[in-house]
Amino acid sequence: MPGTSPSDSMGGRSNENRELELSSEAMRSLTERTVERLIAHVESLPDQPASETAGAEALAASLREPTPESGQPFDGILATLFERVFPVSFNTASPGYLAYIPGGGLFQTALADFISAATNRYTTVFVAGPGQAQIEATVVRWFADWIGYPDTAGGFLASGGSLANFSAIVTARQERLPENFLDGTLYVSEQVHHSITKSARLAGFPTRNVRAIPTDDRFCIRCDLLHEAITADRASGRRPFLVVGSAGTTNTGAIDDLEALAQIAAREDLWFHVDGAYGGFFVLTERGRTRMRGLASADSITLDPHKALFLPYGTGSLIVKDRRALQRAHSERADYMPAMQEDADHIDLCEISPELSRGFRGLRVWLPLKLHGVGPFRDNLEEKLDLATWVTEAIRDLPNIEIVAEPQLSIVAFRHRPQGLADGPELDAHNRRLMERVNSKRRVFLTGTSLGGRFVIRICVLSFRTHRDRMQEAFESIRDAVAAGS
Ligand SMILES: Cc1ncc(COP(=O)(O)O)c(C=O)c1O
Repeated sequence: MPGTSPSDSMGGRSNENRELELSSEAMRSLTERTVERLIAHVESLPDQPASETAGAEALAASLREPTPESGQPFDGILATLFERVFPVSFNTASPGYLAYIPGGGLFQTALADFISAATNRYTTVFVAGPGQAQIEATVVRWFADWIGYPDTAGGFLASGGSLANFSAIVTARQERLPENFLDGTLYVSEQVHHSITKSARLAGFPTRNVRAIPTDDRFCIRCDLLHEAITADRASGRRPFLVVGSAGTTNTGAIDDLEALAQIAAREDLWFHVDGAYGGFFVLTERGRTRMRGLASADSITLDPHKALFLPYGTGSLIVKDRRALQRAHSERADYMPAMQEDADHIDLCEISPELSRGFRGLRVWLPLKLHGVGPFRDNLEEKLDLATWVTEAIRDLPNIEIVAEPQLSIVAFRHRPQGLADGPELDAHNRRLMERVNSKRRVFLTGTSLGGRFVIRICVLSFRTHRDRMQEAFESIRDAVAAGS
């Protein structure tokens, strides 16, 4: 705290400075002022713009500064954050945020982060924090149960889906390829998330080793073409080793035929990874389970709690059917480390994942699930499926609307196609304008993408704060923009 000066207790010059050790009054005061701000912020979320980027340059410029040599009052720091920094951003926590893949941001997890950071225990090695390690292992076991994985399953919480996908590819490489793996070829759909291609590159595979298989009219991988590609690659001396299915693509929420992919993978001796970063947790719902039939046949699955479990950003997960495979890919020992566990029930996270020191991610998931049980999470996902269906039917009835991708989960992609406007840049520009008109009201924020060379507008509903009232507003904005001719 500003105002405390270094003591000089040794009779000469001392560098002992206890300013960083807060008194109980200081801790209470800082916490209370933070919580005041946070509650006001969270309560005003429904009235905040769904996105605001005006003033971005000036804001960024004003935040460039040299290292402060002395401290500043806390209220001023909070004011900078809450009055200047956060208001200029995509409002990913807003109920109107229907862009990209919404995250939500459970306040309950903010409390978990607060507890984790303030206690700052070591989580990655079992002996250093057996309770923390077990809490993360328990969360992983819950996920494995939801998927329907056997007792052999294991996994870890990563920083996000990209890192989970990366570890999945490294594990597949370790399990299916020799040390010299440059002939290894992997198969994905043209709609796969780009973190897979990026991970393949980071794992040492040239981009040409990633075969992007075309999709059908529902944006799901064409298994017949996949089979042909594998056969052709084998004939030319390459080594197919991995197929990646999507349980909910980012563009449209498309779910590949996971049962068919599992069969191909088994027949061809490929590792089968499913990227369920966005869609995997819909397995908690009846409809999701039905649509993702075959999920439990995968060797590994990415699930992102910071998407469909509504956590704040910073938590993905990789769940692997045989946890020993994770260990074979990630284990590395060192003399200065404590003894590692040999008992399968006791997990050293550093043995099965890329990181050593890390935060207590398990608490981020465990605390809200312990506090509420799984029911409200399941109900929210059911509601999102309903809302996606509802908004699709509502906009389908508008004149000249084309639903380009029907919702398979909670994403719909559409465009407005006025008579006389054929496919091409003019139609794309028309839809961009329409989307901007909708977004300009700041009540909802939509983003677009390209499907088969056509610009389409997406609605992705995933936040626990988004309900029918906001979807009604989204619909009315789209209806008005269509009527205005944009
Ligand atoms: C299907 C899919 N996979 C992977 C990712 C990457 O996840 P993350 O952003 O957590 O790294 C995303 C992100 O949107 C995604 O939608």
